[in-house]
Amino acid sequence: MSHQPAAPRDRRVTVTDLGRAKQQGRPITMATAYDWPSARLVDEAGIDCVLVGDSVAMVVAGRDSTIPATLEQMLYHGEIVARGCRRALVVVDLPFPLQHLGTIRAIEASARLLKETGCQAIKLEGTAGQAEVIAGIVAAGIPVMGHVGLRPQAVHQLGGYRVQRDRDQLFEDATAAAEAGAFAVVLECVPEAIAREITESLPVPTIGIGAGSSCSGQVLVFHDLVGLSQDRVPSFVRSYAAVGNDIRSGLRRWHEDVVNRRFPGPDETPA
Ligand code: KIV
Repeated sequence: MSHQPAAPRDRRVTVTDLGRAKQQGRPITMATAYDWPSARLVDEAGIDCVLVGDSVAMVVAGRDSTIPATLEQMLYHGEIVARGCRRALVVVDLPFPLQHLGTIRAIEASARLLKETGCQAIKLEGTAGQAEVIAGIVAAGIPVMGHVGLRPQAVHQLGGYRVQRDRDQLFEDATAAAEAGAFAVVLECVPEAIAREITESLPVPTIGIGAGSSCSGQVLVFHDLVGLSQDRVPSFVRSYAAVGNDIRSGLRRWHEDVVNRRFPGPDETPA
């Protein structure tokens, strides 16, 4: 059976399209991107949403967690990615700790992300404790994607990158995000049975990462998806390309050719 896209190919995917996709049982796709070439590749592949994740701190900058990502960095990468996307809905992460500093500061930062990057939505990690902040940002007219379960910004408090199994807490957090007006909720590292129950109970789509196949959609980090990650590839990832190997071998061959005077050749040399 051929897959129906969440929105027609000739216009931007909207948050309404994603809600409709859930109602119609059409899986939603989201991949991260941090720069112009990756944004174009993801967009041209027909993927519904592009997430400018604060994972930029880990996969691009080589940091140990997402905590060091700053608002200025999210603005910089967000603008580049939004410019590279014609069709995908672009979502930019609100970096730590802005959602914990009060509703006004969170609205100010979210509005900067929307105005200065050209994205269509922001994502924020949080428990039910952030519901008021989500409601405030949504009331300002900014679409919010929630993120519950393993919240990488809280990795030190959660004791590492591990599956979250507290069913009641997961339900409370996801329900609070949806009731506060989030248009979708990311479920990260949540057991399949709990992710399925939450997906069935929420009125909005769930986007899973390490949460099984019952979510309304799936998200993966670009570098993990295409085989560009150097290490730390989580067990829930499937690599669909081995781009890192290709690049490594190309660079080695170029180096060998230069040191053995095989590059440049006559074709690459001006007369
Ligand atoms: O920052 C990120 O890349 C994310 C995804 C893993 C969901 O939040």
